[in-house]
Amino acid sequence: MALFSIRPMTEADVPAVILVENQIYEFPWSAKNFLDSLRAGYHMNCMWLDDQLAGYIVMMHVVDEFHLLNLSIRLDLQGLGHGKHLLQWGMTQARMIGATGMLLEVRPSNTTAKTLYDKEGFKLIGARKNYYPSHLGREDALVMFKRFAGVQE
Ligand SMILES: CC(C)(COP(=O)(O)OP(=O)(O)OC[C@H]1O[C@@H](n2cnc3c(N)ncnc32)[C@H](O)[C@@H]1OP(=O)(O)O)[C@@H](O)C(=O)NCCC(=O)NCCS
Repeated sequence: MALFSIRPMTEADVPAVILVENQIYEFPWSAKNFLDSLRAGYHMNCMWLDDQLAGYIVMMHVVDEFHLLNLSIRLDLQGLGHGKHLLQWGMTQARMIGATGMLLEVRPSNTTAKTLYDKEGFKLIGARKNYYPSHLGREDALVMFKRFAGVQE
């Protein structure tokens, strides 16, 4: 039986992360983006299937909220529930550290991710104009937020 585990990302993991990143995004993060984020102390974890990288999650702690910066699942493992599991795991970590909610940006064209966030209870709270690069110039970002259950407004 396959063995899944989630462990903190290290600099040694970045080459494997970049292989997945380049496989699944048209506009991927660079190795420098990941290394800078590690050195900045962001919350970065990898999900492993046996000894193969299955996905990763990058979150930034800002005051009392977590900002989801990157949630990625290897192409051949998408659609099997791993993204939902890793997102729920990230939200549990954020809650344990005392965060009151999670903020994220998503491309309106990314229906898979948008559906996942809708189902996990994220609400649309705004948009950022021309946030993402795209082949047609720039694409807006939808901004979504989830307040964790039991947290007062
Ligand atoms: C977005 C991503 C993290 C989701 O992870 P995943 O493992 O593929 O998704 P899951 O199997 O956990 O599915 C979670 C939900 O997403 C939705 N979903 C999954 N695949 C979908 C598809 N092909 N089309 C539409 N919705 C889909 C479903 O609602 C699903 O919930 P359900 O199974 O309860 O119906 C993953 O597909 C990915 O890495 N995509 C490329 C990178 C990316 O876009 N990251 C997000 C940036 S904001």
